Amino acid sequence: MPYKVAVLPGDGIGPEVIDEAVKVVRASGIDIECEDGLLGGVAYDETGTPLPPETIRLCESSDAVLLGAVGGPKWDRVEPVAMRPEIGGLLALRRELNLYANIRPAKTLRPLLHASPLREGRNLMDLVVVRELTGGIYFGEPRSRSADGQKAIDTCVYTRAEIERITRQAFQIARGRRRQVTSVDKANVLETSRLWREVVDEFASQNPDVSVQHMLVDNCAMQLVRDPGQFDVILTENMFGDILSDEASMITGSLGLLPSASLSDDRNGKAYGLFEPIHGSAPDIAGQGRANPLAAILSAAMMLRFSFAEPEAADRVEAAVEAALGEGLRTADIFEANTKLVSTSEMGDAVVAKMV
Ligand code: IPM
Ligand code: MG
Repeated sequence: MPYKVAVLPGDGIGPEVIDEAVKVVRASGIDIECEDGLLGGVAYDETGTPLPPETIRLCESSDAVLLGAVGGPKWDRVEPVAMRPEIGGLLALRRELNLYANIRPAKTLRPLLHASPLREGRNLMDLVVVRELTGGIYFGEPRSRSADGQKAIDTCVYTRAEIERITRQAFQIARGRRRQVTSVDKANVLETSRLWREVVDEFASQNPDVSVQHMLVDNCAMQLVRDPGQFDVILTENMFGDILSDEASMITGSLGLLPSASLSDDRNGKAYGLFEPIHGSAPDIAGQGRANPLAAILSAAMMLRFSFAEPEAADRVEAAVEAALGEGLRTADIFEANTKLVSTSEMGDAVVAKMV
């Protein structure tokens, strides 16, 4: 039986990079059956809503979701804001599918080491941000603007249950790595952070096989630049995770390379999830064959690993990406002297060719 994949190309460069990801998964020998769905600005234009009910149904009836990117200047002023691609599309889909665990690995790839601003630094970076994705200030109520427009309110809410389930995911990921969790919060100021710390400590005392330290978010932002090699798994809440994962991504030297998984609870013993590059829709280069498809390809590798439990196929894809880079092939975003400039689809073809 083929795995069923809901493919949501989205906006901007989304469709171009997703084509390459699908191409590479097919070449990995894993049997998939893809069905396309609308999400984001393109869905808004065609159906009047950024998240049509058919898309939710498609995702729910699939084994995994592969997503390109959503948003662009065309929809930045859509009213009400709940109809914008990011809020009414992506955030609503995360919530709808209960994708509470966002896994964002950030690893320096050897062929690009010299591109990292921290190349003179000590240890190579190889960390995973485990970000809570369906709670906190992104979703808390009340949220409003006063009638006179002079005051705005957002609310940060966390429950014990929400903190505990993301902590469990972080420990699980840590067990497949160096078994060190750094829980990041702002406990010197925020009540939600004090609850966060309490719950993580309770969980840690029942799971002594993983070591846990706490770090304040401002310190963590600084430590990431000072010595990113010190981190294994960073466990944190929604907004801190958003910010820290962008920071970590740039330390690898290229935003265009980083994948992510957004996971829900397991279905039939396998993680159900949505897999997407951490970069955006880059409308300025859309349709020109200049986008870097490697983040989308590596996201598809995470899909193979997490949702389909096909680690060998995932390893093959990841090794092929490194081999293509090792040969000096570069898309425009990472191009430099003495490398070979290739288009989006040529990079996809090169990864396929490197797959053994
Ligand atoms: C991300 C993005 C989204 C987020 C935006 C597009 C709403 O920045 O996935 O990191 O903040 O979660
Ligand atoms: Mg972000």
